[in-house]
Amino acid sequence: AKKAVLGPLVGAVDQGTSSTRFLVFNSKTAELLSHHQVEIKQEFPKEGWVEQDPMEILQSVYECIEKTCEKLGQLNIDISNIKAIGVSNQRETTVVWDKLTGEPLYNALVWLDLRTQSTVETLSKRIPGNNNFVKSKTGLPLSTYFSAVKLRWLLDNVTKVQKAVKEDRALFGTIDSWLIWSLTGGANGGVHCTDVTNASRTMLFNIHSLEWDKDLCEFFDIPMKILPNVRSSSEIYGLMKISHSLKAGALEGVPISGCLGDQSAALVGQMCFQDGQAKNTYGTGCFLLCNTGRKCVFSDHGLLTTVAYKLGRDKPVYYALEGSVAIAGAVIRWLRDNLGIIKTSEEIEKLAKEVGTSYGCYFVPAFSGLYAPYWEPSARGIICGLTQFTNKCHVAFAALEAVCFQTREILDAMNRDCGIPLSHLQVDGGMTNNKILMQLQADILYIPVVKPSMPETTALGAAMAAGAAEGVGVWSLEPEDLSAVTMERFEPQINAEESEIRYSTWKKAVMKSMGWVT
Ligand code: G3P
Repeated sequence: AKKAVLGPLVGAVDQGTSSTRFLVFNSKTAELLSHHQVEIKQEFPKEGWVEQDPMEILQSVYECIEKTCEKLGQLNIDISNIKAIGVSNQRETTVVWDKLTGEPLYNALVWLDLRTQSTVETLSKRIPGNNNFVKSKTGLPLSTYFSAVKLRWLLDNVTKVQKAVKEDRALFGTIDSWLIWSLTGGANGGVHCTDVTNASRTMLFNIHSLEWDKDLCEFFDIPMKILPNVRSSSEIYGLMKISHSLKAGALEGVPISGCLGDQSAALVGQMCFQDGQAKNTYGTGCFLLCNTGRKCVFSDHGLLTTVAYKLGRDKPVYYALEGSVAIAGAVIRWLRDNLGIIKTSEEIEKLAKEVGTSYGCYFVPAFSGLYAPYWEPSARGIICGLTQFTNKCHVAFAALEAVCFQTREILDAMNRDCGIPLSHLQVDGGMTNNKILMQLQADILYIPVVKPSMPETTALGAAMAAGAAEGVGVWSLEPEDLSAVTMERFEPQINAEESEIRYSTWKKAVMKSMGWVT
């Protein structure tokens, strides 16, 4: 058959907490041509610990690339049209590996992991000068969420890591660094780098000077020699060089030229380039980011200040305010894997639809404490308001509502910090395919919710950054290039009073979830 004629294509790796994807877009229309997704295991070796195998993550990337290329072949699309590759990733998750063997020296400590709580408590007592030391440099509260304390734990507790640091063989990275190093040759000349957005989640990076901060590295006692080079989010980092997988090797020589933490990537993919534009992504967690332009805005209401993007070496840096919710899609996975009340994540919608209400049941999924706006590590999950009438459908409904209530809390905080309330919410991510969730979200926020027909905006953002990089130049960041993306709108359907009553009962439930761990 004749090969289809298309413009240049761009691939994107989207390595999230729950799954890995590889997607290929047409750079002229932003149309998604083909993709493949693989679920990733999470290990919970102890209460509060969350780990993943870096090798499994890497293999899943190879597998997704292979399968996507196969699918493109079936569509008669020539993979030699792929001109660049972008990487977006779960942020903060911490890996240390041996640069001579390519072997990870311990499992990846996932962002949700709570094992460093005591380290955080000890360090908070030692903060030099004023309490603002960490926040003023990084935009972040001192929390188990960020990489510095995870890396500290690995340095303190893993003999292999200690030995490798001594022998100058250790490299540290978040998942982007681990993947880019491996995909550009690994022990055979792999490039050890990260981008400004990922660096801004480590608690070691100064978001004003855009450099690793010496004082912070001293405070956390981190050897600076193991940190990756920090680059912009859109430039050629290196070329694909894969020795492990023959089929994925079909992309040999293609530049990797985009890199963004997944939440920044989604901001770019949703074209939120203007001051005040915001998006909310529903993945394992849920993250609402609002572009604050070239200003670093510090929150008074529990939001983080983070680097939004820097799309080119000589381009300016943009910042965002972020409301982070730890558990969104993860609550559905928990209902599937831990309670077994659904077999597939999609079944949640059917259960919730059967009842159309939680019937007074509230579910606060504070599995990893509560993030924004509370930052309360002592919180744990609760399901309350139960009666003999309550069944699994009500619990399923309450789980979906929990995602929406948590979003409402961060939207309220965002509105207070920004002064100008958002008139609508742009959403994306896998869960937005769930229509009940989207309607509930509009009802609970009491503003319209707007969703692109193609919810993989995270990957799209990484592809845009890669395609627009200097030396690649196949993607222009103008809105008319997104002609393949149409929007769906959900308007609030309940009355405002009902919405408020439900929200205030939720807040009561949140109060009950706090203080479980002392
Ligand atoms: O900060 C954690 C975040 O990047 C994880 O994203 O998509 O896996 O929920 P996701």
